Amino acid sequence: MPQQPYVIDEMISAKSIAARVEALAKEIHDEFETTDKLVVVGLLRGSFVFIADLVRELDLPVEVDFLEASSYGDAMESSREVRIFKDLRGAIEGRDVLVVEDIIDTGHTLSHVTDYLITKAPARLKTIALLDKPARREVDFKADWTGFEIPDEFVVGYGIDYAQRNRNLPHIGKVRFLDE
Ligand code: PRP
Ligand code: MN
Ligand code: MG
Repeated sequence: MPQQPYVIDEMISAKSIAARVEALAKEIHDEFETTDKLVVVGLLRGSFVFIADLVRELDLPVEVDFLEASSYGDAMESSREVRIFKDLRGAIEGRDVLVVEDIIDTGHTLSHVTDYLITKAPARLKTIALLDKPARREVDFKADWTGFEIPDEFVVGYGIDYAQRNRNLPHIGKVRFLDE
């Protein structure tokens, strides 16, 4: 499908993101200070940049694992059918787990993934999302930590794609379609 031309306007600078990630890491540190080895689970693919920055700000013993879930594919609309393409490598039974996500939109992805992870009987399961778009919510879900609440704009960058592009932008930008 040919794509309508668009430009990306900066919404959250790389500097603001870094400052927020540092503050979030402090809160997470306080929460898991007594945990023996926290399992930090990134949801592929969107969270790969956020988890990389977050764990490097976290002065705690951590294990890093990944789970791949996807509902959007290349589309702009959620399919509402979340599929798990790749499961965790390690066991989380009886462990403290922090799920790291780039963005909560309809809420389907994190709600499905947390329901699934709970079946593995972790001791504690907490969630963090860099971005939250509460206006778009279809299932009730609130992360334990949120970086920024944003309005209903189509965003890209810092791991987030539009049709598998723009994940490598260092900031968060919003997509603005150009009239043809
Ligand atoms: C995006 C994003 C979140 C999810 C949020 O993932 O990274 O995981 O959608 O949307 P929701 O709250 O409406 O479920 P996507 O399915 O595009 O996969 P990706 O991470 O590989 O880009
Ligand atoms: Mn995702
Ligand atoms: Mg995507």
